[in-house]
Amino acid sequence: MPSAAELLAWYDRHRRILPWRAGPGQARDPYRIWLSEVMLQQTTVAAVGPRYARFLDRFPTVAALAAAEWAEVAEEWAGLGYYARARNLHACARAVVAAGGDFPRDTAGLEALPGIGRYTASAVGAIAFDAPVVPVDGNVERVTARLAAIEDPLPGAKPRLTALAAGFMADPAARARPGDFAQALFDLGATVCTPRSPACALCPWCAGCMARRMGIAADLPRKSPKAARPLRHGAHFLLIDAQGRILLRRRAEKGLLGGMLEIPGTPWRAGRWDAAEALDHAPAAAPWRAVPGMARHGFTHFELEMVLFTAALPQGVMPEGEWQRPDAARAALPSVMRRLIDLAGRP
Ligand code: ADE
Repeated sequence: MPSAAELLAWYDRHRRILPWRAGPGQARDPYRIWLSEVMLQQTTVAAVGPRYARFLDRFPTVAALAAAEWAEVAEEWAGLGYYARARNLHACARAVVAAGGDFPRDTAGLEALPGIGRYTASAVGAIAFDAPVVPVDGNVERVTARLAAIEDPLPGAKPRLTALAAGFMADPAARARPGDFAQALFDLGATVCTPRSPACALCPWCAGCMARRMGIAADLPRKSPKAARPLRHGAHFLLIDAQGRILLRRRAEKGLLGGMLEIPGTPWRAGRWDAAEALDHAPAAAPWRAVPGMARHGFTHFELEMVLFTAALPQGVMPEGEWQRPDAARAALPSVMRRLIDLAGRP
């Protein structure tokens, strides 16, 4: 087993300065740590930075987030994707406040909160409260697979890698600083034990690394081939009123993009829509015109191709929904819908 003390000594010299990371001796705020972990599950460290700061400006405490309306949270999350996470984030803040306002300090209590799974409970438990656990994200999987030269492919190898990573806590040096140890693993994975060309010469664990010894570090972890994502099709309708505002609707609470605003459209299905069929789903009878070209967006489980129709709102027609100026709408809409606004060339 490689030495936790060596990794921690490396971390003390090379730790990244990150917005959600308390410096040595600084107080750790569980709310900020939890928020960073939820954001980092879907977005890179570089992209999270500005969005994290903005989110905290708007909702500086768990109480502020709990008190907010869902529409405000949705607006602040717009563009970050995986909207069920934002709904859970909001629900979790409300659960924490309802239970007195403090996050539970143990991983079982954390995992009982909405949207907090095993990874997030371990990360928040370790980083905010020094719970003696090892959160296993992609970085930790990679470091662990290489150290032990695990050649089984992911995702099948995950339980084995998780068990091996948990074994790090047997080392008293890791148990003395679980939060720093977890973040040291993240930083090692992100800056040294990188996916394509690991910088083994700079690695504090180089000497004990089995994959390095076997010359296969860069090939691990292996991955099972992914199934191709199916293609789906949709048609959407950009209705513009006399003041230049566009019509938006809020999606149903449950399901993909639940509770987010959208530009009205057809369901998304395997077959293309011809114009006549698509127009049955238009939010109003209007002189709809097809915009040339199409917009594409990749979701986790499918790829979406969308065509767009635009029309000016005819007199006397009053469709349901809310009207917003294009700039405000763009900011509040999920990325998939922004692509439609961009296709229209900013009406
Ligand atoms: N990736 C996930 N959580 C992280 C953290 N707290 N610091 C750096 N990278 C991370």
